[in-house]
Amino acid sequence: MERCARASGKVILLGEHAVVYGAPALAAALDRGALARALPADRARLVLGARSGAEGDGSDAMRAFAALRASLGAPPLAVEAELEVPAGSGLGASAALGVAIARAVLLAVEPELSLAAPEACARVLAAAAAWEGVFHGDASGVDAAAAASSGCIHFSRTGGSEPVRLERPLPLAVAVAGPPASTREMVQAVARLRARRPEIVDKAVSGVTALVNNARLCLEAGDLRGLGKLMDLNQMLLSGLMVSTEAIERACDSARRAGALGAKLTGAGGGGCVVALAELEPEPILAAWRAEGLACFAATVGAAEPA
Ligand code: MEV
Repeated sequence: MERCARASGKVILLGEHAVVYGAPALAAALDRGALARALPADRARLVLGARSGAEGDGSDAMRAFAALRASLGAPPLAVEAELEVPAGSGLGASAALGVAIARAVLLAVEPELSLAAPEACARVLAAAAAWEGVFHGDASGVDAAAAASSGCIHFSRTGGSEPVRLERPLPLAVAVAGPPASTREMVQAVARLRARRPEIVDKAVSGVTALVNNARLCLEAGDLRGLGKLMDLNQMLLSGLMVSTEAIERACDSARRAGALGAKLTGAGGGGCVVALAELEPEPILAAWRAEGLACFAATVGAAEPA
C-alpha cells in the first residue's frame, strides 16, 4: 500500500515580505498542514480535495506538479493530496502541499530512500521551490523551509534554514481574520511600492532585520513578553508596507485586549490569518475571536526537530 507523506503548515512569527528582500525571518511549523499519497500511473493526475486535474490541462496545479516531478526526475504518477489549513491565508498551504507531494513522490519512486537524509531533504526543498515558483513567482523559500520542518526556524535567502532552540514553548492562537489573498499579488504590490518609494521599503526591511535578530534572542531566552512586543512592532511595519487590512487590525486589537503579548498578520497579508502570542493559555484570545465570529485555533510550538 502506498505510504502517506505529511508536511507542516506554518505561521511567520516575524519577517514576511522583508524576507523577500534578504532580511531574515522566524517561522513556526504547525502540526496541521498537508498530506499526500502517490501511485504509479500512465498519465500524471492530481486530486486536491474536491478538485482534480490531469497532465496537459493547462491548470496552474498541473504545471506546478509537472515542475515538481521534473525537479525530482520522477515519471508520471497519480497523486492525492489534502490540506489541513485554509489556502491563501498565510498558513503556508501551498508550500505544505509542495513538500507533502514531493515527499510522496520520492516515497513512491525511491522507496528505499530515507526522507530524513540530508540529500532527500534538499531534493524535497528544490522540488517544492519548483512547485511554488508556478504559484508565487518570487517565493523566498521560507514557507517551504517551514513546511519541511517542525518547531521554529530562522530563515534567510542567503543563509537558508536553521532550527531555533526555544527556551519555552510558544502558546499561539491563530484566527482567520479575512478572506484569502494571493501571495503573488501581495508580493507584487510591495515590489511596486519599492519601485515608487524605495526608501519606505528599504527602511522597513532594515527595521524588520533588527526586530528578527532581537526576537531570536527572546526565543532562546524564553522572553515571551519581549517577543510579543517585537511582533507588534513588526505588524506596524507591515501596515506601513500596506499589506494589512482593517479586519487584520481588528483581530490583532481584540487579541491584545484579551491578553495577547503580541499579534500580527502571518504570511502575505491582504486578508487571511492573524497569529497572537499568549503568555500561558491561548483560550481567552480564542474566546474573544469566537465572540466576533472568527474561526480560530490554538497551536503550541516547541523546539525544532529534524523533520
Ligand atoms: C508568505 O508566506 C511570505 C512572503 O514573505 C512571501 C515569501 O517569502 O515567499 C510574503
